[in-house]
Amino acid sequence: MKARKPLLAALAGERQRTPPIWLMRQAGRYLPEYRELRAKAATFLDFCYDPVSAVEATLQPIRRFGFDAAILFSDILVLPDALGQRVGFETGDGPRLDPIGDAEGLARLSPEPNWNRLAPVFEALDRLKTAAPNDVALIGFCGAPWTVASYMIAGRGTPDQAPARLFAYRHPDLFATLIDLLVDASGEYLVRQLAAGAEAVQIFDSWAGVLPPAEFERWCVAPVAALAAKIRAKAPQARIIAFPRGAGAQLAKFAALADIDAIGLDTAIEPKAALAALPERLALQGNLDPLALVAGGPRLDDETDRILEGFAAPRAHIFNLGHGVLPETPVGHVERLVARVRGEKSS
Ligand code: CP3
Repeated sequence: MKARKPLLAALAGERQRTPPIWLMRQAGRYLPEYRELRAKAATFLDFCYDPVSAVEATLQPIRRFGFDAAILFSDILVLPDALGQRVGFETGDGPRLDPIGDAEGLARLSPEPNWNRLAPVFEALDRLKTAAPNDVALIGFCGAPWTVASYMIAGRGTPDQAPARLFAYRHPDLFATLIDLLVDASGEYLVRQLAAGAEAVQIFDSWAGVLPPAEFERWCVAPVAALAAKIRAKAPQARIIAFPRGAGAQLAKFAALADIDAIGLDTAIEPKAALAALPERLALQGNLDPLALVAGGPRLDDETDRILEGFAAPRAHIFNLGHGVLPETPVGHVERLVARVRGEKSS
């Protein structure tokens, strides 16, 4: 078989002796070089929309740790921004959007993203095609419709995204209009990312876990399935990873209905339970606790080994966290993790 990028081989279902490794939110504030670069931009969105900075932030963790994948540096909230909603980031306090509370708020959105606004994202991917090392796969991404909608309705992150859940119960037709808009916009956005140079895409459904089963099926599973189908219609060879965080007992339903290549697992599921519940065609990605990475030391080693052993052959495994890297993560712990996964049992 031809030598392929390890991440792409895993997404094609190939089991490898050493699983490919990358980490969600591998670029960011835990890296001093990121903080330095970030300090030069006036706002976080300016930073995301500057292709030179985005390329540099994407490559920083690759240079330091030699991960098998580079995830485009951007944010899931550039899409609401490109749809005309006002989006800002308060330093240390997360995103702020003008909340959508009714039909008028919804009507103010553009029917299609402003592709000129997103042009720097595609330019960053185009530059990364040549700037990234040859064996490193390039991942594009978007937020899943439910997760993005939950920020658009609440205007911010909340402990359980209650404002969007309430809105969906009270105004299911309006909410469906928003979800449909996001399915179309995100589908086209990912197709364009793939055309610009992304070799795989990840759909982040970070808030999937707050919905009861019927709502989960309607607002998470169906939209992600529709989004995957849209991508496949225009880019049949696309490699698609979905991360329905907190899906728990609904994981199998999600995996059965969405045509994806890999599923990202959060920390709550035991690897063996995931192996048993999910179809064999799926590569499994995950699922070290980001806090074990903060803690480091022998507990990090033990948890790493538990995950390496838990995702047993013959299933394809991609090593990752169960959620994003936390800002307080010591850089040395990430080095230790990568060495351990690759079987270099250093100190
Ligand atoms: O993974 C990567 O390294 C690529 C870049 C990336 C960012 N955000 C950069 C970022 C990715 C893939 C995301 C995804 C994202 N953004 C998600 C889904 C993943 C998840 O963590 O659940 C969500 C929900 C968002 C929305 C968002 N963006 C929030 C809630 C916040 C504030 C919390 C925080 O970490 O600050 C952001 C800001 C953000 N996105 C930062 C970074 C590096 C920090 C802002 C800064 O540096 O000033």
